[in-house]
Amino acid sequence: MHSPFVYGLVTRCFYDRRKHASYVLLKQYRRSLLKDKRAVKVKDFGAGSKVFTSEVRKLSKMAKTAGISPKRARLLNRLVRYLEAETALELGTSLGLGTAAMAAGNKIKVTTIEGCPQTAKIASEKFEEFRLENIQLIVGKFEELLVENGKWREERNSKFQIPNSDSTENRQLTTDNSKPTTHNSELLTHNFDLLYIDGNHQKEATLSYFEKLLPTVHNNSVMIFDDIHWSKGMEEAWEEIKAHPKVKVSIDTFQWGLVFFRREQEKEHFVIRV
Ligand SMILES: C[S@@+](CC[C@H](N)C(=O)[O-])C[C@H]1O[C@@H](n2cnc3c(N)ncnc32)[C@H](O)[C@@H]1O
Repeated sequence: MHSPFVYGLVTRCFYDRRKHASYVLLKQYRRSLLKDKRAVKVKDFGAGSKVFTSEVRKLSKMAKTAGISPKRARLLNRLVRYLEAETALELGTSLGLGTAAMAAGNKIKVTTIEGCPQTAKIASEKFEEFRLENIQLIVGKFEELLVENGKWREERNSKFQIPNSDSTENRQLTTDNSKPTTHNSELLTHNFDLLYIDGNHQKEATLSYFEKLLPTVHNNSVMIFDDIHWSKGMEEAWEEIKAHPKVKVSIDTFQWGLVFFRREQEKEHFVIRV
């Protein structure tokens, strides 16, 4: 391997087999979801930004199927530490398994966005239960929160707006009369060290998030895209992202695609099994 940067990342982070103390919390967090008997009425954002289904799903099943795997959660946890990431953005909180993986035991502030209010409510409960105080959860659709130039719409910047648990209505921050409870000017001047894009796994959406988030990255940021081989469209999106002039190093880990923007480095693509 020619790149010392990638060599270090692979040998000291990807292949780090030690048992880190933070893994305990990740295990407990997952376990608490797996044994949670509750169900939520989920708004599904699968087709672009359109809500096309609304159905009742068991938390235990969601944790098993929609959440990050235990192995990837540990890798994400290590990545934050290895890269010394201090700020992260996650698109797609779901029940917070990935969010917790970034936050646990790390000196980082994680901003995470979820479009489904009921799912977000459960995640926020769990963050409190596990005292993950370094997480900021925003409820809203990515497309409406993220506008050109990486700027967030000011009126959408609310620290923590969660609807009542008994409501089946979509009360996210998309109605015209919704006013933020907390104005959070921090988001307007954000710069993320790590961006985990794990929401809408479709070509156009993925490319649009990539473009819109580009102004929020710096030379040492990493963007992680989930499910890059999930469909033909996602394969195409991944190829376009890799080819983007700002992308210098890309690593295909078979499920995740990582991209780095290190100006000092030759453009190079790697395929590495983790
Ligand atoms: C695969 S799950 C996220 C899993 C989570 N990141 C983890 O690591 O466990 C994707 C989530 O993204 C949300 N989502 C998808 N498209 C969205 C959109 N356009 N706006 C807001 N949320 C969206 C879904 O509601 C779902 O909860």
